[in-house]
Amino acid sequence: MCGIVGYIGNRQAEPILMDCLSRLEYRGYDSSGIAVRENDHCNDINVYKNAVRVAELKEKSPHLNGTTGIAHTRWATHGPPSLLNAHPHLDCSGRFAVVHNGIITNYQELKQQLIAEGHDIISETDTEVIPHLIEKYYHGNLEKAVTQAIAVLKGSYAIVVLCKDEPKLVIAKMGSPMIIGISDCEKFIASDTPAIISYTDKVIYLEDGDVGVITENSVAITKNGEEIRREEKHVDMCKADIQKNGYAHYMIKEIHEQPRVIRDMIADNALLTTRLTISENVQSLSIIACGTSYHAGLIGEYVIEELLGIPTNVSFGSEVNHRRMIFPNEVIVITQSGETADVLTSMKTMQKAGVKLLAITNVPGSTASRISDRTIYTKAVLEVSAAATKSFIAQLISLYQLTLLHPFVDPKMREILAAELVSLPAKVEKLFDLEPQIMECAKYLNQCTDVYFIGRGINYPVALEGSLKLKEIAYVHAEGYAAGELKHGPLALLCAGVPVIAIAAQDSNYEAMLTSIKETNARGAFVIALADENDKTIEDSVDMVFKIPHTHYLLSPVLNTIALQLLAYYTAKLRGCPIDFPRNLAKSVTVE
Ligand code: AGP
Ligand code: GLU
Repeated sequence: MCGIVGYIGNRQAEPILMDCLSRLEYRGYDSSGIAVRENDHCNDINVYKNAVRVAELKEKSPHLNGTTGIAHTRWATHGPPSLLNAHPHLDCSGRFAVVHNGIITNYQELKQQLIAEGHDIISETDTEVIPHLIEKYYHGNLEKAVTQAIAVLKGSYAIVVLCKDEPKLVIAKMGSPMIIGISDCEKFIASDTPAIISYTDKVIYLEDGDVGVITENSVAITKNGEEIRREEKHVDMCKADIQKNGYAHYMIKEIHEQPRVIRDMIADNALLTTRLTISENVQSLSIIACGTSYHAGLIGEYVIEELLGIPTNVSFGSEVNHRRMIFPNEVIVITQSGETADVLTSMKTMQKAGVKLLAITNVPGSTASRISDRTIYTKAVLEVSAAATKSFIAQLISLYQLTLLHPFVDPKMREILAAELVSLPAKVEKLFDLEPQIMECAKYLNQCTDVYFIGRGINYPVALEGSLKLKEIAYVHAEGYAAGELKHGPLALLCAGVPVIAIAAQDSNYEAMLTSIKETNARGAFVIALADENDKTIEDSVDMVFKIPHTHYLLSPVLNTIALQLLAYYTAKLRGCPIDFPRNLAKSVTVE
């Protein structure tokens, strides 16, 4: 979950590590820390860390002299954010410093053993056992000591180890992502490409079980003691997108990029951008994803069943890993980061069972793209804010495209939807005219403790997504319901003034939606509707309406979701929330 960086080269390590770390902060940000090996006769390792964000670390850290170092931004799994729990972690002698991403599942047992052997373990983390194990096994060869230490670890890890006595970095990976950036006379280690992209575009992706010894001029990788060659790859990533470009937050910048994202994805001809589709002979399909990507999957299910008649089910990655699942022979996985551990674990299980995997991801070179048989890259370009916005819309566009490409689609329908896709970016731009009205509505939500989102049919997942956005960035309790389910329980919670956000698209569910709205009205709820701009009657039944530009109902989730993204954003802004870095969350969830 965290961000890891390492540097060895001919320049001062500290400014480079700080710069790389700030580009990774979106991964985890409850604490941060840095360790640099001094370039003098004693080669001491100097560490500065605390439960602070990277900006504060940069500001407060004393100058750490040296050309080899490691740094970390943490997303706590074991022990709260604190100075002692922040990484890097050291052994008793201060000879080894370690940064770690992942979870050591047998750390309790190892900790007891190490304490019994005289090691002084001071943090609550699972990580701290690693430097102590290295200390235990070190007899003048860091690579050997790390290899022996990881042999006793259970769980997942990407680690970078710094040693006072050896001018090198030793790295190891199992289950958590790790790359090496290659440049002349310097090498970079990172958990994610954005960290190092302004220094080099040549990278090596490590595989599980790899151990690497890195010096400024060399990279040596072994697996099970055997030397192994890993191909150097070129990564293509836009450097400018890491800036906020004048916006107050990445989230609002990314929301405003959505017309561009859709334009890039549909290019000149909506159907030519992706040539990948579902195989013709599949009898049924599964979609696996988590969080917001799961909501994209639910919309995909609706589109695929409606246009292709192929039975489709959608499951959470975190659920399929712990039950017997009967998979069809083709599965679509959706993950913007391509690194979500729950999804990757299920991919590995499915692959063993012979399932063909089609991944939809936003990150070229991500683990999901490397595991899958086929990959569709969404063109959202790096998304920094923890809340997924443009990457979600890009996932929907990919799902529309791959469905429309399928030969089962009625040609007339294909033509209509392809034309609608082309007109969509302009409609999103028109939707942005609603921002002042959405800000007014945010003032109402700001006073509330509970908000209900209701939708039907293809807009039911939009209700789920609207409520997830509000929860995660504005910290307002919100629930998303299929509107027809309200009367089966949740209605008991409604009383005067409680906001109900009703998505009332012009589709076959419209009349039923009006009935649901009336039911909430009758309990005194404050109803805010998202309705088609041509809907002339909804005003009579609700307290507030956002008139959404007209589109085909199958594409209506795009516009409705963007309106709800804005609503969550402006509510969070009024509440003074740290919008891009919501508490307890991380952009890429690399632990199960
Ligand atoms: C989105 O706003 C969330 N922060 C989160 O639910 C996210 O969608 C989920 O963790 C899945 O991530 P992925 O798409 O990178 O797999
Ligand atoms: N499990 C480790 C900890 O809690 C690492 C967490 C992370 O990946 O940031 O410190």
